[in-house]
Amino acid sequence: MASDGETSVRDPDLSELADTKNSKGHGFHCFKHDGLYFFMLPEHLVKGQKQVDRIKSVTEAELKDDDIIICAYPKCGTHWLWEVIEMLISGTIHYQKDVKETRMLEFIFKDGIEAVPQPRVFNTHLPLRMLPKQVVEKKIKCIQIMRNPKDVCVSFFNHLRDVTPPANYEGDFVEFTEAFLSEKIPFGSYSTNLLSWKTEVAAAPELPVLDMYYEDMKTDPVKAAKDIAKFLGLSCTDKYCEEVALACSFKKMKKVDEEMKSDGPMKIWAEGSEGTFYRKGEIGDWKNWFTVAESERFDQKWNAKMKDSGFTFTYTPV
Ligand code: A3P
Repeated sequence: MASDGETSVRDPDLSELADTKNSKGHGFHCFKHDGLYFFMLPEHLVKGQKQVDRIKSVTEAELKDDDIIICAYPKCGTHWLWEVIEMLISGTIHYQKDVKETRMLEFIFKDGIEAVPQPRVFNTHLPLRMLPKQVVEKKIKCIQIMRNPKDVCVSFFNHLRDVTPPANYEGDFVEFTEAFLSEKIPFGSYSTNLLSWKTEVAAAPELPVLDMYYEDMKTDPVKAAKDIAKFLGLSCTDKYCEEVALACSFKKMKKVDEEMKSDGPMKIWAEGSEGTFYRKGEIGDWKNWFTVAESERFDQKWNAKMKDSGFTFTYTPV
């Protein structure tokens, strides 16, 4: 496991580093592949290979017919959804001891994917074209979770500000917002991610995909649990779905994370930072971060690309 000061662990072959810097010199510690930027991962995860080859290996991974994959842009609620799905399929209210990163396709690659014991609930920020080819061939069940882009932007900024250097972002929120609306950000822009999913899923009409929204799950977590159970073909009772929803409330999951979860494949949060995957867990926190002018500018840019895309987001709690 990486620890502070182990430069060799945090600094793999820097020849792959892409230039994402803005005019103030702030950028991301990423390499580029197929039009997307990816975090440079520590040497113990890339195992002496090129970063790009490790990512490419994901497409060749062998899957099991009953694998499930959560597909989402960063900060849309993957940890939450993962815990809910794991409880639904296991039929027990037990929190995962492992951290979600141990099931993340672009962290564990082909060898890691194939080594995970069944039943397996993977997660990824990759577009469909970069997932294992067997996802489409075997019609693997995919659940996509989406969230309004302004809350995603705020959550991603807080995440990247607090991660262990050199993966951390040192620019301010306004600079980050610019990067968020461009492609020069880890996993590319959220808008491109959504549009890619839409196009790539349309080209694979037999792929079973459940679309979910963070805001719907927050507003009615019991209905969300029932929808997931139905999609997965599980015969969970309404009472059990209520228990799962309650066990996976923000407060409960935050407490479990603080008391039980360990670092996983690498040390994510910088020493002394307040980094956490359970920050606020609300709809509409963006209002505390954007000025009116910045919010309008964001809307303009977002809508210019997304207005005919068919995605409708909820920005305020109902
Ligand atoms: P905030 O930073 O806005 O608080 P991901 O798991 O994809 O990294 O997403 C993290 C976001 O989901 C964080 O958003 C986090 O607080 C929120 N989240 C995690 N668990 C949650 C839960 N049980 N209920 C609501 N939000 C949750």
